[in-house]
Amino acid sequence: MGVIIDGLKISKEKREKIKKEVEFLKDEGINVCLAVILVGKNPASKIYVKNKKKACQELGIISKEILLDEKIEKEELKEVINSLNEDEEVNGILLQLPLPKHLNENEIVNYISSLKDVDCFCTKNTGKLFSGNFYFAPCTPSGIIDLIKSTNVKISGKNAVVVGRSNIVGKPMAMLLLKENATVCICHSKTENLEFFTKNADILIVAIGKPNFIRGDMVKKGAVVIDVGINRLSNNKLCGDVFFEEVLNVAGFLTPVPGGVGPMTITKLMENTIKAVRLQKNKIKC
Ligand code: GUN
Repeated sequence: MGVIIDGLKISKEKREKIKKEVEFLKDEGINVCLAVILVGKNPASKIYVKNKKKACQELGIISKEILLDEKIEKEELKEVINSLNEDEEVNGILLQLPLPKHLNENEIVNYISSLKDVDCFCTKNTGKLFSGNFYFAPCTPSGIIDLIKSTNVKISGKNAVVVGRSNIVGKPMAMLLLKENATVCICHSKTENLEFFTKNADILIVAIGKPNFIRGDMVKKGAVVIDVGINRLSNNKLCGDVFFEEVLNVAGFLTPVPGGVGPMTITKLMENTIKAVRLQKNKIKC
């Protein structure tokens, strides 16, 4: 039976350090501030934003919430983002995704200053990630790297398989694993013979949004398995993309849902907000 990776515990330890850093900055006269923009009333997004606000409060980070109407036009949203870009009291800007359909996400994330882009979604920062020479790393994938490292399993030289090719998780995940010298493969909904790839993975990251999709017989014995999925079942229970009980019998390490990747994502957002302060105050070149 594998070991459950306790994302909550690892997050808690990291948040203690962040809290101290926020206090240190406060003593220096710097109040750390994260602006979170929510457009519309997507219920899942509202929960994510609430959790981010709570984490900010716990760590002494000022959270500035900007709630905007679902029908907001691109130009008006651009003005809101521009005023946050220019506001010296705002260190990080997070635009909660998804946006309503009439707004082009790829275009709008680029309105955010690359110096305040704590999600690492703008083209400049994703390009840097691609080059391997980056300052900000996206929150979910970088949290996953920390979770893998917590197992003490060496990443370098291992077969890492990412199931899912989203801009938020799959693609940047592959870049961070490459940076760690893994041999990386990205699978997706059109991949033929998926089990062939997953069974060969020493490190398996699953982000496809299908409840309990990865079964025990699809996993290599002893593998590190990271479940990024958050699915709500008809009985209102949460489950991941990995069939937890089956896979735990085969894997060496497995993240639970909830309590695995989710808390780490928020912790990395807090870390990136501190990194943004350093970037802005110390004028680090990025
Ligand atoms: N929607 C789902 N995940 C994320 C995330 O990490 N950042 C933002 N901004 N929106 C999201």
